[in-house]
Amino acid sequence: MKIVFFSAKPYDKQFFSKHNSSFHFELVFLETHLGPHIVHAVEPGTTAICVFVNDRLTKEVIDVLAQKGVRIIALRCAGFNNVDIEAAKQAGIQVCRVPAYSPEAVAEHAVAMLLTLNRKTHKAYNRVREQNFSLNGLLGFNLYGKTVGIIGLGKIGLAFARIMKGFGCQVIAHDPFADQPKMEDVRLVPLDQLLGESDIISLHCPLTPENHHFIDARTIGKMKKGITLINTSRGGLINTLDAIEALKSGHIGNLAIDVYEQEEKLFFKDLSAEIIPDDMIQRLMSFPNVLVTGHQAFFTAEALDQIASTTLHSVFELANGRIPGTVMVG
Ligand code: NAI
Repeated sequence: MKIVFFSAKPYDKQFFSKHNSSFHFELVFLETHLGPHIVHAVEPGTTAICVFVNDRLTKEVIDVLAQKGVRIIALRCAGFNNVDIEAAKQAGIQVCRVPAYSPEAVAEHAVAMLLTLNRKTHKAYNRVREQNFSLNGLLGFNLYGKTVGIIGLGKIGLAFARIMKGFGCQVIAHDPFADQPKMEDVRLVPLDQLLGESDIISLHCPLTPENHHFIDARTIGKMKKGITLINTSRGGLINTLDAIEALKSGHIGNLAIDVYEQEEKLFFKDLSAEIIPDDMIQRLMSFPNVLVTGHQAFFTAEALDQIASTTLHSVFELANGRIPGTVMVG
């Protein structure tokens, strides 16, 4: 059975080929991302496709895939905001994802971004290489004793909470779907209380149509002045233009983003020799107190092993008429 991979990178080939020794699928790796521009090129007879965060599986794309005979869409990621699930159901295509792969990988990256922005190690690294040992401009703050607000207390949110407790932080969380604190010492609070009490806010909830741009001028206005905001979840959670205004006014003191609402055209590509027409990301990157990484929070060897083995196992089960726990549309 053939699985066609979209948005495939060398590391995808490496980890999927390694784990395929137990499954013996025919793996076809395409660099292009999937969208309306390319879906017609999918060869009839392709049973399964494997996609990543920036492949766009709209109803139009899914209907063409169904006509081509595709029966399985395997997402090699946790988030699924880029797939029209209802359209897949209607088209009779099964959809699976990797609901959990090393939540610690993402949580640890969020902490890495927080520490970098706060203690300015990225600036110090460059400075001392130029024999500049001045400390001016490198002032940070203690994490110990600060209040950290986590929005979305799922697997990654909990992993982040555990680390921040280790730093001696007070951890509060907002999660409308959690009815009791999942971890001792983490208080579940209403959103407004979290926004008002936190020194650091980290987003760990999925992007849904309901919470698109929920971090905007209104919610930022409820945060403490000088707030440190971290987003390793999905770019669409933040209204970037409002965040830029808040950076200009100083209301946001530090912003760390591993995801960006228009990342589809940028991330996972080497654009170092290109002119980037997106003024919003260019403005963001011009702030000294903004740290952008290109959707790399998941990127550890442990996570890639888990992603490859879970994805191939799910496709194997579906191909053999069984419904694994990773299925979203069975
Ligand atoms: P999860 O499903 O374990 O946890 C998500 C939590 O968010 C749940 O407890 C849910 O009740 C809560 N939630 C849902 N809507 C909410 C809302 N409006 N406000 C507050 N909480 C809400 O998911 P997990 O594994 O912790 O992943 C979280 C997100 O992280 C994913 O949806 C994905 O977007 C992102 N992610 C980013 C990666 C990266 O490399 N940057 C890698 C993996 C995931």
